[in-house]
Amino acid sequence: MVKLALAASIATVIGALTFANMSEPFAADPPCVAKTFKTKLVEKACKEGGQKKAKEVMKAWNKSKKIKSCNQCHTKLAPKYELKADGLEQYKKLGGE
Ligand code: HEC
Repeated sequence: MVKLALAASIATVIGALTFANMSEPFAADPPCVAKTFKTKLVEKACKEGGQKKAKEVMKAWNKSKKIKSCNQCHTKLAPKYELKADGLEQYKKLGGE
C-alpha cells in the first residue's frame, strides 16, 4: 500500500513536470502582433523580447519625448496595439527611427 502511494506521487511529480514543459510556450513572452516593422526601435525590441519588451521600450521612448498617453498614437493597447492612421507619422515627427 505504501509502495502504491509512493508510485502514485512519483507519477504526479512526473506529470507535473511534463505539464510544465508543455505549457512553457504559453508562459514565455508573447511575440509582437506586427510581423513587419516600420520602426527600428520596435523591430529590435520585438525580436529581442516580444511584445513585453516592445512595451518597455515604447514606454521609455514616450517618457523621453514627454508623451503622456499611449493613445496618442494607438487606438487600442494590449493585445493588438492598433495604430491610429497617423501613429507612425507622429512617431517619425518626434524623431523616432
Ligand atoms: C508617437 C506615437 C506612439 C506613441 C505615443 C506610442 N506608440 Fe507604440 N507604436 C508606435 C508605432 C509607430 C508602432 C509600430 C512600430 C513598427 O511598425 O515598427 C508602435 C508599436 C507598439 C507596440 C508593438 C505592437 C505589436 O505587438 O506589434 C507596442 C507593444 C507598443 N507600441 C506599445 C506602446 C505603449 C505601451 C505606449 C505608451 C507608453 C505606446 N506604444 C505609445 C507609435 C507610438
